[in-house]
Amino acid sequence: GKGAAMVTAVAYRLTEQARQIQQTLAEFRLSKTQLLEVKKRMRVEIERGLKKDTHKQATVKMLPTFVRSTPDGTENGDFLALDLGGTNFRVLLVKIRSGKRRSVEMHNKIYAIPIEVMQGTGEELFDHIVHCISDFLDYMGMKSARLPLGFTFSFPCHQTSLDAGILVTWTKGFKATECEGEDVVELLREAIKRKEEFELDVVAIVNDTVGTMMTCAYEEPTCEVGLIAGTGSNACYMEELRNIEIVPGNEGRMCVNMEWGAFGDNGCLDDIRTKYDQAVDENSLNEGKQRYEKMCSGMYLGEIVRQILIDLTKRGFLFRGQISETLKTRGIFETKFLSQIESDRLALLQVRAILQQLGLDSTCDDSIIVKEVCGTVSRRAAQICGAGMAAVVDKIRENRGLDHLDVTVGVDGTLYKLHPHFSRIFLQTVKDLAPKCDVNFLLSEDGSGKGAALITAVGCRQRELDAQ
Ligand code: GLC
Repeated sequence: GKGAAMVTAVAYRLTEQARQIQQTLAEFRLSKTQLLEVKKRMRVEIERGLKKDTHKQATVKMLPTFVRSTPDGTENGDFLALDLGGTNFRVLLVKIRSGKRRSVEMHNKIYAIPIEVMQGTGEELFDHIVHCISDFLDYMGMKSARLPLGFTFSFPCHQTSLDAGILVTWTKGFKATECEGEDVVELLREAIKRKEEFELDVVAIVNDTVGTMMTCAYEEPTCEVGLIAGTGSNACYMEELRNIEIVPGNEGRMCVNMEWGAFGDNGCLDDIRTKYDQAVDENSLNEGKQRYEKMCSGMYLGEIVRQILIDLTKRGFLFRGQISETLKTRGIFETKFLSQIESDRLALLQVRAILQQLGLDSTCDDSIIVKEVCGTVSRRAAQICGAGMAAVVDKIRENRGLDHLDVTVGVDGTLYKLHPHFSRIFLQTVKDLAPKCDVNFLLSEDGSGKGAALITAVGCRQRELDAQ
């Protein structure tokens, strides 16, 4: 009768809806062939970054860091460290003791960087940083100490020495004026002078990936790679100096900050980028830049999810077809929310509670769909990040002419540490795509601060040797 026909019609609409949702998500589900292709392309870009002739145009910059070795345990002294560019801005005092009872003691304070400062003038940004250092030195009672300082500055910098770094471009949420093209160590020194309250000796500028690698290498000497899967995404590793054509010399190794977040900026990932990735890019502070990072780091995953949810809502598959103000708000799905939504321990009712907290009224069906969208987006992120890492470890293996490589990667970042599935899928992908490498992953505790101090210690020692 009529009732049965209606039931059939509703059932048809539902399966058709499910089919369309699956079709939308299918673009995010990459095959092994596609992932191997990502790995291969990363390798091509690595070579372009390393070679003198192509370095200038290269998107994956492969920046020299002037870190020539990992720590050996003889590092010693008290150091100040700054950590700018991750989830928090921190000032740290790091006390490193060498000898039989090696130890590292740290004190730190977290400071907020208001958005107006992140996106104001360079002078305001650096004055704010120095203001925070001043507060920290007061707090520690160390205003007169003139400590050596290591500056973890998690942005691409062209380095010509350990203590000089020209900012190539801001990434993530920063956009302060008059900094790009400038030596940020000088900007910091000038701001310290302006303040006229204390003196510091800025010894090293350090990328967070490098700090993470060094921190892990302090405990585990086989650590020669650093990875950040957090607000941003990036890696560094010990490359043969002879392969880094823009640095003179052929002996030994140097750590290169890959800046792999920019992978794809020449269009080489266009075939796997979706219209949602493009929308996220168009909505960002740095359109056209950091395309790989925008597919796999914490700052953007929630944005991809939001773009998909907006589209599904417009098509009438979600939230009763109503696009709320919340859904229109940039940045609502932070990593911590995605992590909660995807947690297996959470019942759907709790997923709905989280959505409610964000201001999204959902039905039970909605929450199932939202959870699936989140899972699909974060899986792709972990996989393409794994494909990048597979390219790196295979490169190291080939550098050393080995059939098999054992290597340790030091890892940090909120996405890696907080997300319930990212790390597992990432590890599995590296294993699948680089079968000739045994990769051991080591979580770093407070990598950026400790690592900056370790590098500063090595820098100070080198200076003393040079002075002799
Ligand atoms: C961005 C920065 C890079 C940093 C990464 C992780 O990609 O450009 O320097 O290492 O974020 O914080």
